[in-house]
Amino acid sequence: MSPKIINVLNGQQSSIPPIWFMRQAGRHLPEYLDVRATAKNFIDFCFSPDKAARVTLQPIERYDMDAAILFADILLIPIGLGRKVDFIKGVGPVLEPIDVDGIQKLKIDGAADRISSVYETVSNVRKELAKDKALIGFCGGPWTVATYMIEGKGSPSKDIVKRFAYENPEAMADLLEALVISSADYLIKQAKAGADVLKIFESWAEGLSPDLFDRLVIHPTQEIVKRIRDAGITIPIIGFPRGAGLNAIRYAHETHITAIAAGTQMPLDDFRATIPDGMTVQGNLDPLALRIGGKTLRRAVDNVLRDAQSGPHIFNLGHGVTPDVKIENVQAVVNHIRGLEANYV
Ligand code: CP3
Repeated sequence: MSPKIINVLNGQQSSIPPIWFMRQAGRHLPEYLDVRATAKNFIDFCFSPDKAARVTLQPIERYDMDAAILFADILLIPIGLGRKVDFIKGVGPVLEPIDVDGIQKLKIDGAADRISSVYETVSNVRKELAKDKALIGFCGGPWTVATYMIEGKGSPSKDIVKRFAYENPEAMADLLEALVISSADYLIKQAKAGADVLKIFESWAEGLSPDLFDRLVIHPTQEIVKRIRDAGITIPIIGFPRGAGLNAIRYAHETHITAIAAGTQMPLDDFRATIPDGMTVQGNLDPLALRIGGKTLRRAVDNVLRDAQSGPHIFNLGHGVTPDVKIENVQAVVNHIRGLEANYV
Protein backbone atom coordinates (compact mmCIF):
# COMPACT_ATOMS: atom_id res chain seq x y z
CA MET A 1 0.00 0.00 0.00
CA SER A 2 1.49 3.34 -0.94
CA PRO A 3 1.54 5.91 1.85
CA LYS A 4 -1.61 8.01 2.05
CA ILE A 5 0.44 11.20 2.00
CA ILE A 6 1.90 10.20 -1.38
CA ASN A 7 -1.58 9.70 -2.85
CA VAL A 8 -2.60 13.12 -1.57
CA LEU A 9 0.60 14.69 -2.93
CA ASN A 10 -0.37 13.15 -6.26
CA GLY A 11 -3.60 15.12 -6.11
CA GLN A 12 -6.02 12.65 -4.53
CA GLN A 13 -8.50 14.13 -2.12
CA SER A 14 -9.11 12.24 1.12
CA SER A 15 -11.89 12.80 3.67
CA ILE A 16 -9.33 11.98 6.38
CA PRO A 17 -6.20 13.98 5.53
CA PRO A 18 -2.77 12.50 6.21
CA ILE A 19 -1.10 14.17 9.18
CA TRP A 20 2.40 14.94 10.43
CA PHE A 21 3.86 17.91 12.34
CA MET A 22 6.91 20.04 11.73
CA ARG A 23 9.40 19.45 14.58
CA GLN A 24 7.46 16.36 15.59
CA ALA A 25 10.79 14.79 16.57
CA GLY A 26 11.95 17.13 19.26
CA ARG A 27 12.03 18.31 22.80
CA HIS A 28 8.34 17.84 23.63
CA LEU A 29 8.98 14.06 23.59
CA PRO A 30 10.64 12.53 26.69
CA GLU A 31 12.00 9.69 24.53
CA TYR A 32 13.71 12.32 22.33
CA LEU A 33 15.34 13.94 25.35
CA ASP A 34 16.65 10.53 26.43
CA VAL A 35 18.48 10.00 23.13
CA ARG A 36 19.51 13.68 22.95
CA ALA A 37 21.21 13.31 26.36
CA THR A 38 23.55 10.66 24.93
CA ALA A 39 24.92 13.04 22.23
CA LYS A 40 27.86 15.39 22.76
CA ASN A 41 26.07 18.28 21.05
CA PHE A 42 23.27 18.90 18.54
CA ILE A 43 25.49 18.69 15.45
CA ASP A 44 27.06 15.41 16.56
CA PHE A 45 23.54 14.18 17.16
CA CYS A 46 22.51 15.07 13.59
CA PHE A 47 25.62 13.28 12.27
CA SER A 48 24.96 10.06 14.27
CA PRO A 49 22.91 7.89 11.88
CA ASP A 50 21.71 5.45 14.54
CA LYS A 51 20.58 8.11 17.01
CA ALA A 52 19.10 10.36 14.32
CA ALA A 53 17.20 7.42 12.83
CA ARG A 54 15.86 6.48 16.24
CA VAL A 55 14.39 9.91 16.94
CA THR A 56 13.05 10.20 13.38
CA LEU A 57 10.94 7.10 14.07
CA GLN A 58 9.71 8.15 17.53
CA PRO A 59 6.70 10.25 16.40
CA ILE A 60 5.54 7.35 14.19
CA GLU A 61 5.79 4.95 17.11
CA ARG A 62 4.05 7.27 19.57
CA TYR A 63 1.41 9.00 17.40
CA ASP A 64 1.21 6.87 14.25
CA MET A 65 1.89 9.97 12.12
CA ASP A 66 1.54 9.41 8.36
CA ALA A 67 5.06 10.63 7.66
CA ALA A 68 8.43 10.72 9.38
CA ILE A 69 10.67 13.72 8.80
CA LEU A 70 14.39 13.08 8.67
CA PHE A 71 16.10 14.23 11.84
CA ALA A 72 18.73 16.72 10.68
CA ASP A 73 18.89 20.51 10.33
CA ILE A 74 18.85 23.14 7.59
CA LEU A 75 22.19 24.42 8.91
CA LEU A 76 24.19 21.28 8.05
CA ILE A 77 24.71 22.55 4.49
CA PRO A 78 26.86 25.50 5.63
CA ILE A 79 29.05 22.92 7.42
CA GLY A 80 29.36 21.01 4.13
CA LEU A 81 30.39 24.29 2.48
CA GLY A 82 33.19 24.65 5.01
CA ARG A 83 31.64 27.06 7.52
CA LYS A 84 31.61 26.67 11.28
CA VAL A 85 28.18 26.22 12.90
CA ASP A 86 27.42 25.82 16.60
CA PHE A 87 24.14 25.30 18.41
CA ILE A 88 24.24 26.94 21.81
CA LYS A 89 21.76 25.88 24.46
CA GLY A 90 19.23 28.62 25.14
CA VAL A 91 20.60 30.75 22.24
CA GLY A 92 20.13 28.69 19.06
CA PRO A 93 22.40 28.50 16.04
CA VAL A 94 25.57 30.62 15.95
CA LEU A 95 27.68 30.93 12.79
CA GLU A 96 30.68 33.03 11.92
CA PRO A 97 29.09 35.74 9.70
CA ILE A 98 30.29 35.35 6.12
CA ASP A 99 31.52 38.30 4.00
CA VAL A 100 32.16 38.81 0.27
CA ASP A 101 35.58 37.22 0.58
CA GLY A 102 34.24 34.23 2.51
CA ILE A 103 31.61 33.61 -0.16
CA GLN A 104 34.33 33.21 -2.81
CA LYS A 105 36.05 30.62 -0.62
CA LEU A 106 33.04 28.35 -0.08
CA LYS A 107 33.87 24.72 -0.81
CA ILE A 108 31.02 23.91 -3.21
CA ASP A 109 32.66 20.80 -4.65
CA GLY A 110 31.81 17.86 -2.44
CA ALA A 111 29.72 19.91 0.02
CA ALA A 112 26.89 17.36 0.08
CA ASP A 113 29.40 14.51 0.43
CA ARG A 114 30.97 16.05 3.52
CA ILE A 115 27.67 15.59 5.36
CA SER A 116 27.05 12.09 4.04
CA SER A 117 26.10 10.55 7.39
CA VAL A 118 22.68 12.12 6.78
CA TYR A 119 22.09 9.67 3.88
CA GLU A 120 22.91 6.81 6.24
CA THR A 121 20.19 8.10 8.58
CA VAL A 122 17.77 8.16 5.63
CA SER A 123 18.49 4.58 4.66
CA ASN A 124 18.39 3.40 8.29
CA VAL A 125 14.96 4.98 8.73
CA ARG A 126 13.59 3.70 5.44
CA LYS A 127 14.60 0.13 6.41
CA GLU A 128 12.58 0.31 9.62
CA LEU A 129 9.63 2.41 8.50
CA ALA A 130 6.38 0.61 7.51
CA LYS A 131 5.57 0.66 3.78
CA ASP A 132 2.45 2.76 4.33
CA LYS A 133 4.47 5.58 5.96
CA ALA A 134 6.50 8.13 4.01
CA LEU A 135 9.92 9.52 4.86
CA ILE A 136 10.36 13.24 4.18
CA GLY A 137 13.86 14.50 3.42
CA PHE A 138 14.54 18.23 3.47
CA CYS A 139 16.84 21.19 3.09
CA GLY A 140 16.56 24.86 3.92
CA GLY A 141 15.63 27.34 1.21
CA PRO A 142 18.80 29.07 -0.03
CA TRP A 143 17.57 32.46 1.17
CA THR A 144 16.75 31.17 4.66
CA VAL A 145 20.12 29.45 5.02
CA ALA A 146 21.83 32.60 3.66
CA THR A 147 20.18 34.71 6.39
CA TYR A 148 21.92 32.60 9.05
CA MET A 149 25.23 32.59 7.16
CA ILE A 150 25.31 36.37 6.75
CA GLU A 151 23.78 37.47 10.06
CA GLY A 152 25.46 34.68 12.06
CA LYS A 153 22.26 33.90 13.97
CA GLY A 154 18.50 34.09 13.76
CA SER A 155 17.27 37.69 13.71
CA PRO A 156 13.79 39.18 13.66
CA SER A 157 14.26 41.94 11.06
CA LYS A 158 16.76 40.46 8.58
CA ASP A 159 17.91 44.04 7.88
CA ILE A 160 21.58 43.08 7.70
CA VAL A 161 21.07 40.34 5.13
CA LYS A 162 18.53 42.32 3.09
CA ARG A 163 20.95 45.26 3.00
CA PHE A 164 23.68 42.85 1.88
CA ALA A 165 21.41 41.62 -0.94
CA TYR A 166 20.76 45.22 -2.10
CA GLU A 167 24.36 46.41 -1.80
CA ASN A 168 26.23 43.30 -2.96
CA PRO A 169 23.96 41.71 -5.58
CA GLU A 170 26.77 39.73 -7.20
CA ALA A 171 28.13 38.27 -3.98
CA MET A 172 24.57 37.45 -2.90
CA ALA A 173 23.98 35.67 -6.22
CA ASP A 174 27.20 33.70 -5.69
CA LEU A 175 26.14 32.69 -2.18
CA LEU A 176 22.69 31.61 -3.37
CA GLU A 177 24.26 29.68 -6.23
CA ALA A 178 26.55 27.82 -3.82
CA LEU A 179 23.51 26.97 -1.72
CA VAL A 180 21.44 25.92 -4.75
CA ILE A 181 24.14 23.55 -6.04
CA SER A 182 24.89 21.98 -2.66
CA SER A 183 21.24 21.80 -1.50
CA ALA A 184 20.05 20.20 -4.75
CA ASP A 185 22.85 17.65 -4.51
CA TYR A 186 21.93 17.05 -0.86
CA LEU A 187 18.26 16.42 -1.73
CA ILE A 188 19.16 14.17 -4.67
CA LYS A 189 21.32 12.07 -2.35
CA GLN A 190 18.54 11.89 0.24
CA ALA A 191 16.12 10.71 -2.47
CA LYS A 192 18.60 8.09 -3.66
CA ALA A 193 19.02 6.88 -0.06
CA GLY A 194 15.27 6.32 0.27
CA ALA A 195 13.39 9.57 0.99
CA ASP A 196 9.86 9.45 -0.46
CA VAL A 197 9.14 13.19 -0.38
CA LEU A 198 11.41 16.26 -0.28
CA LYS A 199 10.65 19.55 1.44
CA ILE A 200 12.30 22.94 1.08
CA PHE A 201 11.97 25.02 4.29
CA GLU A 202 11.96 28.69 3.31
CA SER A 203 11.19 29.73 6.87
CA TRP A 204 12.18 33.39 6.44
CA ALA A 205 10.20 34.23 3.31
CA GLU A 206 8.44 37.09 5.07
CA GLY A 207 9.08 40.80 4.63
CA LEU A 208 10.64 40.69 1.15
CA SER A 209 9.65 43.12 -1.58
CA PRO A 210 8.27 41.32 -4.67
CA ASP A 211 11.51 42.12 -6.48
CA LEU A 212 13.73 40.68 -3.74
CA PHE A 213 11.39 37.71 -3.40
CA ASP A 214 11.89 36.87 -7.10
CA ARG A 215 15.65 37.15 -6.86
CA LEU A 216 16.22 35.58 -3.44
CA VAL A 217 13.46 32.98 -3.20
CA ILE A 218 11.72 32.13 -6.48
CA HIS A 219 14.74 31.93 -8.75
CA PRO A 220 16.93 29.78 -6.43
CA THR A 221 14.00 27.46 -5.68
CA GLN A 222 13.33 27.00 -9.41
CA GLU A 223 16.98 26.07 -9.85
CA ILE A 224 16.89 23.48 -7.06
CA VAL A 225 13.74 21.86 -8.42
CA LYS A 226 15.20 21.82 -11.94
CA ARG A 227 18.42 20.15 -10.78
CA ILE A 228 16.44 17.49 -8.89
CA ARG A 229 14.23 16.76 -11.90
CA ASP A 230 17.23 16.77 -14.29
CA ALA A 231 18.78 14.08 -12.06
CA GLY A 232 15.76 11.88 -12.79
CA ILE A 233 14.23 12.23 -9.31
CA THR A 234 10.45 12.34 -9.68
CA ILE A 235 9.24 12.23 -6.05
CA PRO A 236 7.00 15.05 -4.75
CA ILE A 237 8.60 18.27 -3.52
CA ILE A 238 6.83 20.42 -0.90
CA GLY A 239 7.74 24.12 -0.77
CA PHE A 240 7.24 26.10 2.45
CA PRO A 241 7.57 29.85 1.85
CA ARG A 242 6.60 30.74 5.42
CA GLY A 243 5.14 34.20 5.83
CA ALA A 244 5.45 35.08 2.13
CA GLY A 245 1.95 36.57 1.95
CA LEU A 246 0.83 37.18 -1.63
CA ASN A 247 4.34 36.41 -2.89
CA ALA A 248 3.39 32.77 -2.19
CA ILE A 249 1.09 32.86 -5.24
CA ARG A 250 3.98 33.32 -7.65
CA TYR A 251 6.03 30.84 -5.64
CA ALA A 252 3.29 28.22 -6.19
CA HIS A 253 3.05 28.92 -9.93
CA GLU A 254 6.68 29.48 -10.86
CA THR A 255 8.94 27.22 -8.80
CA HIS A 256 7.53 23.87 -10.12
CA ILE A 257 7.17 22.43 -6.63
CA THR A 258 4.51 19.71 -6.27
CA ALA A 259 2.74 21.02 -3.17
CA ILE A 260 2.78 24.09 -0.98
CA ALA A 261 2.89 24.36 2.80
CA ALA A 262 1.15 27.35 4.35
CA GLY A 263 2.16 29.25 7.47
CA THR A 264 -0.31 30.01 10.25
CA GLN A 265 -1.58 33.34 8.88
CA MET A 266 -2.70 31.97 5.51
CA PRO A 267 -6.47 31.55 4.93
CA LEU A 268 -6.38 28.16 3.19
CA ASP A 269 -9.64 28.58 1.25
CA ASP A 270 -8.62 31.92 -0.30
CA PHE A 271 -5.08 30.64 -0.84
CA ARG A 272 -6.29 27.60 -2.76
CA ALA A 273 -8.20 29.85 -5.13
CA THR A 274 -4.94 31.55 -6.19
CA ILE A 275 -2.56 28.59 -6.69
CA PRO A 276 -2.46 26.08 -9.56
CA ASP A 277 -5.64 23.98 -9.84
CA GLY A 278 -5.50 20.82 -7.77
CA MET A 279 -2.21 21.67 -6.04
CA THR A 280 -1.94 19.96 -2.65
CA VAL A 281 -1.87 22.31 0.33
CA GLN A 282 -0.24 21.49 3.67
CA GLY A 283 -0.95 23.21 6.96
CA ASN A 284 -1.69 25.23 8.99
CA LEU A 285 -2.81 24.78 12.59
CA ASP A 286 -1.56 27.54 14.89
CA PRO A 287 1.27 26.08 17.05
CA LEU A 288 0.04 28.29 19.89
CA ALA A 289 -3.35 26.53 19.86
CA LEU A 290 -1.47 23.23 20.16
CA ARG A 291 0.24 24.60 23.28
CA ILE A 292 -3.03 25.84 24.77
CA GLY A 293 -5.09 22.69 24.13
CA GLY A 294 -8.70 22.20 25.25
CA LYS A 295 -11.57 23.88 23.42
CA THR A 296 -9.21 26.39 21.81
CA LEU A 297 -7.35 23.57 20.09
CA ARG A 298 -10.48 21.67 19.06
CA ARG A 299 -11.89 24.80 17.43
CA ALA A 300 -8.60 25.62 15.70
CA VAL A 301 -8.42 22.08 14.23
CA ASP A 302 -12.01 22.32 12.98
CA ASN A 303 -11.27 25.67 11.36
CA VAL A 304 -8.30 24.24 9.44
CA LEU A 305 -10.36 21.23 8.30
CA ARG A 306 -13.15 23.54 7.15
CA ASP A 307 -10.85 25.88 5.25
CA ALA A 308 -8.88 23.08 3.58
CA GLN A 309 -11.71 20.82 2.51
CA SER A 310 -12.04 21.94 -1.10
CA GLY A 311 -8.91 20.16 -2.35
CA PRO A 312 -6.07 17.78 -1.50
CA HIS A 313 -4.81 18.58 1.99
CA ILE A 314 -2.07 17.38 4.35
CA PHE A 315 -2.81 18.33 7.95
CA ASN A 316 0.14 20.02 9.68
CA LEU A 317 1.03 23.05 11.77
CA GLY A 318 1.75 26.51 10.39
CA HIS A 319 5.20 26.23 12.08
CA GLY A 320 6.95 23.78 14.38
CA VAL A 321 5.97 22.00 17.61
CA THR A 322 7.47 23.88 20.55
CA PRO A 323 9.17 22.10 23.48
CA ASP A 324 6.33 22.92 25.92
CA VAL A 325 3.62 21.15 23.91
CA LYS A 326 1.76 18.41 25.80
CA ILE A 327 1.76 14.94 24.32
CA GLU A 328 -1.98 14.65 25.07
CA ASN A 329 -2.67 17.62 22.80
CA VAL A 330 -0.82 16.13 19.83
CA GLN A 331 -2.61 12.81 20.38
CA ALA A 332 -6.00 14.54 20.58
CA VAL A 333 -5.42 16.26 17.22
CA VAL A 334 -4.37 13.01 15.53
CA ASN A 335 -7.45 11.23 16.89
CA HIS A 336 -9.77 14.09 15.93
CA ILE A 337 -8.47 14.12 12.35
CA ARG A 338 -9.02 10.37 12.08
CA GLY A 339 -12.56 10.51 13.48
CA LEU A 340 -11.56 8.71 16.69
CA GLU A 341 -12.40 9.85 20.20
CA ALA A 342 -10.34 12.97 20.87
CA ASN A 343 -9.56 13.73 24.47
CA TYR A 344 -8.86 17.47 24.53
CA VAL A 345 -7.47 18.53 27.91
O1 CP3 B 1 10.90 16.98 13.58
C1 CP3 B 1 11.53 17.67 12.73
O2 CP3 B 1 11.02 18.63 12.13
C2 CP3 B 1 12.91 17.14 12.39
C3 CP3 B 1 14.02 17.85 12.05
C4 CP3 B 1 14.26 19.34 11.94
C5 CP3 B 1 15.02 20.10 12.89
N1 CP3 B 1 15.20 21.36 12.36
C6 CP3 B 1 15.54 19.60 14.16
C7 CP3 B 1 15.95 20.56 15.22
C8 CP3 B 1 13.92 20.20 10.89
C9 CP3 B 1 13.05 19.92 9.68
C10 CP3 B 1 14.54 21.46 11.17
C11 CP3 B 1 14.47 22.61 10.25
C12 CP3 B 1 14.97 23.91 10.68
N2 CP3 B 1 16.09 24.19 11.42
C13 CP3 B 1 14.42 25.15 10.27
C14 CP3 B 1 13.25 25.31 9.35
C15 CP3 B 1 11.95 25.07 10.03
C16 CP3 B 1 11.57 26.14 11.03
O3 CP3 B 1 11.47 25.79 12.21
O4 CP3 B 1 11.38 27.29 10.62
C17 CP3 B 1 15.19 26.17 10.85
C18 CP3 B 1 14.95 27.67 10.72
C19 CP3 B 1 16.25 25.56 11.57
C20 CP3 B 1 17.36 26.21 12.30
C21 CP3 B 1 17.36 25.86 13.74
N3 CP3 B 1 17.66 24.62 14.25
C22 CP3 B 1 17.08 26.73 14.82
C23 CP3 B 1 16.68 28.18 14.69
C24 CP3 B 1 17.22 25.97 15.99
C25 CP3 B 1 17.16 26.48 17.40
C26 CP3 B 1 15.79 26.77 17.83
C27 CP3 B 1 15.30 25.73 18.74
O5 CP3 B 1 14.17 25.25 18.53
O6 CP3 B 1 16.04 25.41 19.69
C28 CP3 B 1 17.55 24.63 15.62
C29 CP3 B 1 17.75 23.48 16.52
C30 CP3 B 1 16.94 22.27 16.29
N4 CP3 B 1 16.70 21.69 15.07
C31 CP3 B 1 16.27 21.49 17.28
C32 CP3 B 1 15.65 20.41 16.62
C33 CP3 B 1 14.87 19.29 17.24
C34 CP3 B 1 16.31 21.75 18.78
C35 CP3 B 1 17.66 21.49 19.34
C36 CP3 B 1 17.83 20.49 20.43
O7 CP3 B 1 17.19 19.43 20.50
O8 CP3 B 1 18.68 20.78 21.28
